[in-house]
Amino acid sequence: MSLKSSETPGFALREATEHDDQAVHEVVTAAFGHHDGVGDLWTEVIDRRLVRASIVAVEGDEIVGHVGVSHAWLDARRALVEVWMLSPLSTRPDRQRRGIGTALVVAAIEAGRASGVPALFIEGSPSFYGARGFKSASARGFVPASARTPDLAFQVVTFDAHEEWMTGALVYHDVWWEHDSAGLRDPGLAELEELLGQSRTHVR
Ligand SMILES: CC(C)(COP(=O)(O)OP(=O)(O)OC[C@H]1O[C@@H](n2cnc3c(N)ncnc32)[C@H](O)[C@@H]1OP(=O)(O)O)[C@@H](O)C(=O)NCCC(=O)NCCS
Repeated sequence: MSLKSSETPGFALREATEHDDQAVHEVVTAAFGHHDGVGDLWTEVIDRRLVRASIVAVEGDEIVGHVGVSHAWLDARRALVEVWMLSPLSTRPDRQRRGIGTALVVAAIEAGRASGVPALFIEGSPSFYGARGFKSASARGFVPASARTPDLAFQVVTFDAHEEWMTGALVYHDVWWEHDSAGLRDPGLAELEELLGQSRTHVR
């Protein structure tokens, strides 16, 4: 994968290397907070060789943003299909709202497109990701890995390699369950559903 520098002045994107692991952990932890353990989750994704793309935003020598993309499966009737999932996406708090997150999402989508994988999934804000190329995954017939994933949060970008039969349930590797990082739990889930005015969580 080759990345062009961002056209936005002030930062550039490049692929992460193993020398960046510590700095990436710090950026992810700064963005999500220590209590969430998302930095540790990404370290385990690296250790288990599940990384499919890892892109950093840099200002000079400093890493100020990161997007991680990892391996998952789609449990289609005909075959188990490799797909990618985008998570985590992190911009250091003091560098947010300057376009870094958007540039990282665009780069992750381009990496997926270039790889020949059929689909890239995300559980996240429909306003943020919907404005950056993602569409409702359940509307395309995909089923989230957890029944606790709010329907609106379950989104996908499909690529040329996607074929009509490639539908079914998204399956996460154990690391996501060990970190309890699939879907939402109450009270946050209940609060979100109340905010939406009805239960939109996917029900299987
Ligand atoms: C989400 C995040 C990566 C965005 O990074 P960023 O560099 O600020 O992104 P950009 O500057 O390209 O875009 C900023 C936009 O994202 C919006 N945004 C930020 N967090 C958001 C969220 N959780 N839900 C919806 N929109 C969000 C901002 O309101 C802003 O909107 P605007 O452009 O209309 O003003 C950053 O806020 C972050 O690291 N948050 C903490 C970790 C996180 O929640 N990651 C995403 C998990 S799915």
